[in-house]
Amino acid sequence: MTSPLQIRRLTYADLPQVIAIERRVFPTPWSLAMFVLELSKPSGICLAALERDRICGYLVCSRYDTVWHVMNIAVDLPLRRRGIASALLERLFERADRPGAQYTLEVRLSNEPAIALYERFGFHSAGLRRGYYHDNKEDALIMWRTVTDSRPAGAVIEEAPQGVRA
Ligand code: COA
Repeated sequence: MTSPLQIRRLTYADLPQVIAIERRVFPTPWSLAMFVLELSKPSGICLAALERDRICGYLVCSRYDTVWHVMNIAVDLPLRRRGIASALLERLFERADRPGAQYTLEVRLSNEPAIALYERFGFHSAGLRRGYYHDNKEDALIMWRTVTDSRPAGAVIEEAPQGVRA
């Protein structure tokens, strides 16, 4: 039996658990300072997913003018494929979706699970950033999601904006 999932704001006190997951999950993990910087931005949305009071996933999203940039999303290894990342994205969209809102992100071309997740939420490919990742010079796929009306998240029609290219 799985425990109920709680989604709430990510806080500085969560960062030790977040960093531990980050190091398990990413080849080039964010530093503590990077998380602190993102949490300090008042316009951003940073979320934690918890089961039994333990962090099991997190999402960091920054706002640049009218565009939301999904900077980081991760779920701890044994807890994947149970809808935790989906719950984090749904909460983000509940909070930030407005007609005309735009979201963007970069993802490694080889990261098929993440690309499948983003496509499921209406992100579309909009070009490549060549050699974007420093560790292996892998290209980044740039993805965009645009909210074109005010229907609830998951039911929105999205389209890639014009002219967005690496
Ligand atoms: N293979 C194929 N599709 C996948 C997938 C996989 N391994 N993982 C997720 N998806 C797609 C599926 O469509 C899935 O729906 P389904 O399970 O009903 O088929 C959907 O995404 C939602 O999956 P969900 O359970 O919400 O995702 P998750 O909680 O397992 O987290 C990641 C997905 C990508 C966040 C997780 O794999 C992760 O932390 N990866 C490492 C960190 C990372 O790469 N982050 C993204 C950086 S850009």
